[in-house]
Amino acid sequence: MYYIDNGEMVVLTKDNITIYNSKGEKIEKEKSVITWDMESATKAGYPHFMLKEINEQPQAVSDTLLRRIDKNNNLILDDIRLDEDEIQKIKDIYVVACGTAYNAGLIGKYIIENLANLRVRVDIASEFRYNKQFINENTLVILVSQSGETADTLAAQKLAKTKGCRILSITNVVGSSVARNSDDVFYTLAGPEIAVASTKAYTTMLVAFYMIGVELAKLKQEINIDEYHNIVEKLKKLPQKVKETLFVEKKCIEIAEKIKNSKSAFYIGRGLDDSVGKEGALKLKEISYIYTESFAAGELKHGTIALIEKNTPVIAVVTQDKLLDKTMSNIQEVKARGAYTIIITDKHIEDINNYADDVIQIPEVYDIFSSILAVIPAQFIAYYTSIKKGNDVDKPRNLAKSVTVE
Ligand code: AGP
Repeated sequence: MYYIDNGEMVVLTKDNITIYNSKGEKIEKEKSVITWDMESATKAGYPHFMLKEINEQPQAVSDTLLRRIDKNNNLILDDIRLDEDEIQKIKDIYVVACGTAYNAGLIGKYIIENLANLRVRVDIASEFRYNKQFINENTLVILVSQSGETADTLAAQKLAKTKGCRILSITNVVGSSVARNSDDVFYTLAGPEIAVASTKAYTTMLVAFYMIGVELAKLKQEINIDEYHNIVEKLKKLPQKVKETLFVEKKCIEIAEKIKNSKSAFYIGRGLDDSVGKEGALKLKEISYIYTESFAAGELKHGTIALIEKNTPVIAVVTQDKLLDKTMSNIQEVKARGAYTIIITDKHIEDINNYADDVIQIPEVYDIFSSILAVIPAQFIAYYTSIKKGNDVDKPRNLAKSVTVE
């Protein structure tokens, strides 16, 4: 490779290369050899696509968010044609998806229900077709799919169309099958996601739900225009907050070292934090192969706590003010049984070291938007645990990036 400067000219023939400076004089240039293969080149210097994509999240969140906010803090969701009349017709919302997209849908449920006061049901796509449905022309079905090609999700879309539902899809691939067959599409602008374990697609799906939830709340007049502009102002801060959260990487490497030989691990949390835990558990299990489950923190004592032994890693997500005390007492329960407790929090909790062996402090943000930050430590912990176990982190065993078969 030769690095050519502005104004220089190169004449390439089959057999040689001649380089001229801006005065037309022949010049010699030192040849550089690039050892990267094509794939490495697209990793932009990162050792794995997953680490690159975790670090691309500030930009991905910014790209998905900021171009849809005007200078007066109004959302411009021109890809979604839902107006006051249309929204009055919507009586029910179903979110249908698989895997990480399903986990994003759980966050979306909380956001839409709490902001727009609209009931949301979240169905796993492969179950949706066999569940009793109550869907019709007054139902909005939100399909979530990074690839837009997941067979189970496309099958759900086909069924929803036969029932006359309004279909909105959230997808990262322009022109994908799910997009082409929807009434409205909200494109996440995360850029190509190569690693099988989804990261930036998940966080940009959350951005999609945040924006849809806020817009639905305004259309339904659940919030007044000042509250609307105020929430939009909070949304604008997210790219920077995501960037600041990347600084937890070093702490997550230490934690990965401590859990890499565990035979199981647990995430616990309440409300939104439980939904983040589900995504954290999926990340850890699918690339480290450590059996990991997430539980509503209050559910532990109804059985699962029997699995807690000395040094069992329990990662608690604690970002919801109103549920903080309850979750802290659940952490105490597992700590008393010998668990290795880790807390991911944006709060400043008194005597936190009485509860946690390790604390991952993330930046403070408006409670309802905390999930987009809390998931980042979970991504790093999964990534580094997988590396330390010598796994193929970008292509984990038995998995494909897009499941186009049922
Ligand atoms: C997530 O890390 C997995 N790769 C997997 O669960 C994935 O989210 C699921 O297969 C859905 O894929 P989609 O978003 O392309 O529909």
